[in-house]
Amino acid sequence: MLEGKEFIQKSLELNLFFGRIMKEHMTFIQVSLPIKNSNYILEADELKRSFEGVLFETVEVANGAIAKESIDSNELVTPFTLDAERILEDLTGVCINKDLTLAELQLVSDPDFKFTPSLENYVFDLNNRYINLMQETIDFKERLSTQFRDCDIFMFIYPSMLHHLIEEGQFYLNTLFRLQERRKITEDMLKKEIFWDEIMGEHAQYIRGLLDPSEKKLFQVADSFAELFEKLLKETKETDKKDICKITKKNFQATKEIKEFKGDSTEGIIQCKIKSIINPLLADHTLREANRYLRVLREYLKKC
Ligand SMILES: [Fe+2]
Ligand SMILES: [Fe+2]
Repeated sequence: MLEGKEFIQKSLELNLFFGRIMKEHMTFIQVSLPIKNSNYILEADELKRSFEGVLFETVEVANGAIAKESIDSNELVTPFTLDAERILEDLTGVCINKDLTLAELQLVSDPDFKFTPSLENYVFDLNNRYINLMQETIDFKERLSTQFRDCDIFMFIYPSMLHHLIEEGQFYLNTLFRLQERRKITEDMLKKEIFWDEIMGEHAQYIRGLLDPSEKKLFQVADSFAELFEKLLKETKETDKKDICKITKKNFQATKEIKEFKGDSTEGIIQCKIKSIINPLLADHTLREANRYLRVLREYLKKC
């Protein structure tokens, strides 16, 4: 059973990672909708602000409490995040709360931190607030997705990418439910690897599809990652529980490689050296998702 320090740390780390991911999904939706849908742009903006509010609170509570590994993994913020936000704000006019990013960049891990029962209760309530916000967010994304599918609205993202944002939201929500039931986060490792392999493969496809047609070399790299993760996804689905370590090692190696590619791409986009319609925060966002997956894999590999 998950309790005390472990429950507090796992909850705070999960919310810091996915809370930001969800707030950024709202930003991506905002900049992808035509002005005709200003009602939806405003709805996304409100949800984004709700996430920013609860994230501020989470950062305050998490300072000192979270593990050093979660800070060092660059899954919460990367050295590119602040620049990416500034550029996206400048180019689109969308509002991004950068004080939150600055606060996240200053997060520390304190080995003498006191994990009290009252903090545990507080975190349990905080998780419930994220659950409520997530239910609202998933409902919003699903409404958009249905209308997009029926061609009642138009968006400047792929329909399958909107579906990808829903899948990530559902994965986060399910993880929150499991945490509240005090179930160990290392359970069902194969299911997690199936989820993340799919996500990594889709990122490679989206990068491929959003690059300028002149970026032929990058096309090939992105395509090869899409193929690699498709192969690994199939293999992971066919893996027997007793062979988890073998596939986890393979997934770890592939994710390390795609993380390098995403890091270089984010830097290239920020420096205006890559021609694409990928916004810099989206590039950094997919890099953080790879960093998170790497940490999940690394943590499991300790048992292998
Ligand atoms: Fe995402
Ligand atoms: Fe993603």
